[in-house]
Amino acid sequence: MFRIGIFDSGVGGLTVQRAVLDALPGADTLYLGDTARVPYGTKSAETVTQYSLRNARFLARHGIDVLVVACNTASAVALPALRTELTVPVIGVVDPGARVAARASRTGRIGVIGTQGTVASGAYQAAIRRERPGAEVIARACPLFVPLAEEGWTDPADEVVRGVARRYLSPLAGAGIDTLVLGCTHYPLLAAAIGAELPGVTLVDSAAAVAAEVRATFGGGAGPADHRFFVTDAPEKFLAVAGRFLGRPVTAADHVDV
Ligand code: DGL
Repeated sequence: MFRIGIFDSGVGGLTVQRAVLDALPGADTLYLGDTARVPYGTKSAETVTQYSLRNARFLARHGIDVLVVACNTASAVALPALRTELTVPVIGVVDPGARVAARASRTGRIGVIGTQGTVASGAYQAAIRRERPGAEVIARACPLFVPLAEEGWTDPADEVVRGVARRYLSPLAGAGIDTLVLGCTHYPLLAAAIGAELPGVTLVDSAAAVAAEVRATFGGGAGPADHRFFVTDAPEKFLAVAGRFLGRPVTAADHVDV
């Protein structure tokens, strides 16, 4: 049985889990949301790396064949440490998302949105330029998108959602990008609102990109599959919103100390 370990700072990584379940319906998954320490996006690279190592060790103890780092911030800063520590392959969301964006862009003017930590790390910018030397990458942190998505305020017709999206995205529209990477776990839920501010711009979902890469590397696995959820804070709040992020009901999660 093929088992995928997935971790995130909290509930957002369930958008990545959702893409993984769509792409590999036969694989078992263990999901860990570090809900006691969320958010990662405002913390230093050193702190995010320490948290990421603890999460990875926990999942490794449960026997996984591959680790998917769903959190964009952790993928941006902690992959080298995780790869040194773990004996199984470690796949982050940054390189797959960057590859899809570099290929999708016609003009080479590519936008990236993510947390403050992700944007400050320069990881997406470097990965896109590796794939496409000469690309012009315009990156912007959009921190308010995270609470909006968790609150369920994602309707592009909602004036608050529209106002926040316009404020963050108008500089990107003005810069003439033709492709935008949704470089944060929560942003796929806001894709309609983001797209409405950037007509004609191709949106790249890093979640779908990483799922496609896991499938291409490891195959689909054979069902029926088992899915377990772990959180580091009390499960109630996670369970209240998890179904919306996963697109399937989540009825149980175990509280663990990592
Ligand atoms: N999961 C984080 C990411 O994708 C967003 C939430 C946080 O800041 O922890 O970067």
